[in-house]
Amino acid sequence: MTQVLIVSADLKKVTKQFSTIASLYPTTQITVSDLSPEHVIRCSLVVVDLQGIAPNQVELLRRFLKSNPQLSKLSIVDLKNRKEVLQAQEIGIFTLIDRREKLPALILKIREILGNYSRPVLEANIPEKTVKSVWSTCSALDTLSIAAVTEDPLPVPTLVRTANDITKAIETDGLDNWLSAVHCHHSHTFCHTMLVAGHAVSLSKELGKPEEFQILLGLGALVHDLGKVKIPLSILDKPGKLTEQERELIDKHPIYSKEILKGRKEVPKEVIEMAVWHHELLDGSGYPDGLKADQISQTVRILTISDIYSALTEKRAYKDSYSPRQAFAIMFGMGGKLDKELLRVFRNKILTPDLGHLKRSAF
Ligand SMILES: [Fe+2]
Ligand SMILES: [Fe+2]
Repeated sequence: MTQVLIVSADLKKVTKQFSTIASLYPTTQITVSDLSPEHVIRCSLVVVDLQGIAPNQVELLRRFLKSNPQLSKLSIVDLKNRKEVLQAQEIGIFTLIDRREKLPALILKIREILGNYSRPVLEANIPEKTVKSVWSTCSALDTLSIAAVTEDPLPVPTLVRTANDITKAIETDGLDNWLSAVHCHHSHTFCHTMLVAGHAVSLSKELGKPEEFQILLGLGALVHDLGKVKIPLSILDKPGKLTEQERELIDKHPIYSKEILKGRKEVPKEVIEMAVWHHELLDGSGYPDGLKADQISQTVRILTISDIYSALTEKRAYKDSYSPRQAFAIMFGMGGKLDKELLRVFRNKILTPDLGHLKRSAF
């Protein structure tokens, strides 16, 4: 699904603004010469950069954009350049942003038009505390992504409050309600982060850890894939199988997280470790640093188990999800890569409520 269509004269001149939009909304970029009415029909907002657009392309843009009456339109222009302003009006675009404007102004404008992409529609049977907590988590994740791309301070106090809300919601309504609620999310990326948070908090609780530790793990989970803000959502949430190149790009996200979090005094050290090292494995076969057993802290190990388990059990359009039992079989089959003791505690937590049901269905 494309929400935002970016049209410009030259794709090589991809500005920072454009790549940022792509990491916040499902986006397609195209040159005017490749534009067709099909592109316009499938999106909610078109952003046209008028720099370098030839006069004969103005009429073409006007005709194509007219074919979708629901379409919102925004143009990036030089407001001092009368020709560009008139061209925008000719095309039928009256919302204009100056090219010199800073990134947050453009993001705010898009948010004003499209609403908050991260806010999901939840089923009616989800308990109130969980609903409120999912919404506040989505909005905190959205603020986090924007801060990461605009290089503003990360909203750590908001994220701590959010992690606290998650632990409270799970305590009151149970992990199953949290998982059902977040599974409704239309974006795989948001869904995954919230699943990991639910699992990491629950495993910490099961280990008998104090509340501050559970909140720290919740916080780590919310930040763990932050580096993915450098990857377009259209790749992260791609409904089909990923190409090799796309997979390689996604695998760079811990390195991107490291770049974003470097020198961020506002972020606890353990949280940075969880973000950078949650793909490390105890036998040294993980990435990005090939760390081994003792070099990997317990917080990172908990995060890694929650991350892998979430990835195995979540649904994607192109793959079946594994049942909890299958997921644990796979994870126990990973030999010395994961912390077996933590894995056992987690399995007991996840499978125990299931046992009665499984026994019943066996008769
Ligand atoms: Fe990751
Ligand atoms: Fe992850």
